Amino acid sequence: MKIQNLATITTLLSSVLGFSHLANFPEHRSLAGLSPGEVRAVTRQFNSMPGPQHLPPPINDTSSKLVNDAAHPFMPDQPGDIRGPCPGLNTLASHGYINRTGVTTPGEIITAVQEGFNMGWQFASFLAYSVFVADGNHLTNLMTIGANTTINGQSTAGMNIHGNFEGDASLTRGDAFFGDNFNFNEKSFDAFSVAANKVGGGVVNLDAAVLNRAIRINDSIARNPEFSFGTPRFLGGMAETAYFLAMFVNNQTADNAKPLTLKDARSFFEFHRFPDGFYRRHGPFGFPLVDSFTRQIIAMVGRQPGNNNGVNNYVVDTKDPATFCYLYQKQVNLTATLYPNPTPELKTAIKQNLVTYYDALGDLTCQEYFPYGR
Ligand code: HEM
Ligand SMILES: *[C@@H]1O[C@H](CO)[C@@H](O)[C@H](O)[C@H]1NC(C)=O
Ligand SMILES: *[C@@H]1O[C@H](CO)[C@@H](O)[C@H](O)[C@H]1NC(C)=O
Ligand SMILES: *[C@@H]1O[C@H](CO)[C@@H](O)[C@H](O)[C@H]1NC(C)=O
Ligand SMILES: *[C@@H]1O[C@H](CO)[C@@H](O)[C@H](O)[C@H]1NC(C)=O
Ligand SMILES: *[C@@H]1O[C@H](CO)[C@@H](O)[C@H](O)[C@H]1NC(C)=O
Ligand SMILES: *[C@@H]1O[C@H](CO)[C@@H](O)[C@H](O)[C@H]1NC(C)=O
Repeated sequence: MKIQNLATITTLLSSVLGFSHLANFPEHRSLAGLSPGEVRAVTRQFNSMPGPQHLPPPINDTSSKLVNDAAHPFMPDQPGDIRGPCPGLNTLASHGYINRTGVTTPGEIITAVQEGFNMGWQFASFLAYSVFVADGNHLTNLMTIGANTTINGQSTAGMNIHGNFEGDASLTRGDAFFGDNFNFNEKSFDAFSVAANKVGGGVVNLDAAVLNRAIRINDSIARNPEFSFGTPRFLGGMAETAYFLAMFVNNQTADNAKPLTLKDARSFFEFHRFPDGFYRRHGPFGFPLVDSFTRQIIAMVGRQPGNNNGVNNYVVDTKDPATFCYLYQKQVNLTATLYPNPTPELKTAIKQNLVTYYDALGDLTCQEYFPYGR
């Protein structure tokens, strides 16, 4: 009751001070783009600001097990629930491994992708923080898994913000240039069946997955004059082909040998739903397996990072090494660009989250960056 009154008073005060456009600012929305005065105005409205958190511990049992179980039933989206461009996270939210609202924390994501899909702890931590430092709220420690829907008239952009991590040539979503970069797109999904029927004998084996990846890249090169495919998107786009082979296949073996059926592909990509009786893979899919599998796919696809300079004019960026260390450096720089003038509290939180991000690199020996000083 007290907090509500306080919130009402601050909302009134904020509108008096010219911040009425920030009334009902969602607690999960990124604070990027706000002036110091605006940050102070919105943080006065927040009910809770736990700030940066430690990484959750790794799960201990990484054996295969039934994950579409009675404790995690599929439930259709309720009004206001948020889903985004990642079929893995969408599925985890629709089964309650992640808060079904789609509003979550990096820690909840890290635990959920291990539990539900057996993504390796260190890689999951690295991936979650790659997105959180750019798209999350450093003071409330909240983020959303996605879409550009609105709640109380406010954009909840989150993980679908184009260029921060989300990018072009997605397998089942359109390019931002064409208007919608997060909803399922049947035309894009078609490339799965084209590839499966051409080289996979009707299923998505490694050859079909590589052909599917190439078709989607070529489509963007041919139609999107602003096609952008440098790190992080290049590495993400290639790794995501590895993800679905390694983690969307029922009871997948440790060597990722079994193909994905088109029916199961649709279940994840379109319906955000585990197939009935779905067992997560055997053993974690983490570093260094992610790296070696991604390199194999890059070599088979035969593309390097680059950008379109007008349609059908793909220019390779020879300075982009497409490594995970470089991805980390780019995301740190992006974060510094998004927050050029943070309030002292926000600066402290960002600095701490960047240290956590670096720690998540674990065994990878990357240079550490301190855009806000040590
Ligand atoms: C730390 C956890 C994760 C984060 C932060 C994350 C984030 C994202 C984002 C932002 C995208 C959109 C990229 C784009 O298409 O522009 C994406 C795509 C994708 N993710 Fe995730 N993801 C995570 C875990 C997973 C897991 C566990 C799986 C599989 C089990 C997965 C499978 C995929 C696939 C297949 C795509 C490509 C979708 C498409 O191109 O249509 N992700 N992810
Ligand atoms: C895994 O086991 C260790 C040691 O027994 C324990 O400290 C840790 O909390 C366990 N992790 C989880 C997620 O239960
Ligand atoms: C999910 O988030 C909502 C809104 O933030 C919260 O009320 C609810 O308790 C959360 N659910 C779980 C299972 O944590
Ligand atoms: C996403 O939100 C932004 C800002 O509200 C808006 O300009 C843009 O058109 C939206 N995109 C889509 C695909 O809805
Ligand atoms: C993609 O485009 C390249 C360059 O034009 C071409 O060599 C390759 O065969 C194309 N791949 C597919 C699957 O269309
Ligand atoms: C899963 O795969 C393992 C090893 O390939 C096999 O022994 C087991 O019977 C399979 N379980 C199910 C439920 O298919
Ligand atoms: C990151 O920023 C630093 C300092 O401004 C700069 O030297 C470096 O080239 C940038 N790296 C990338 C990958 O943008």
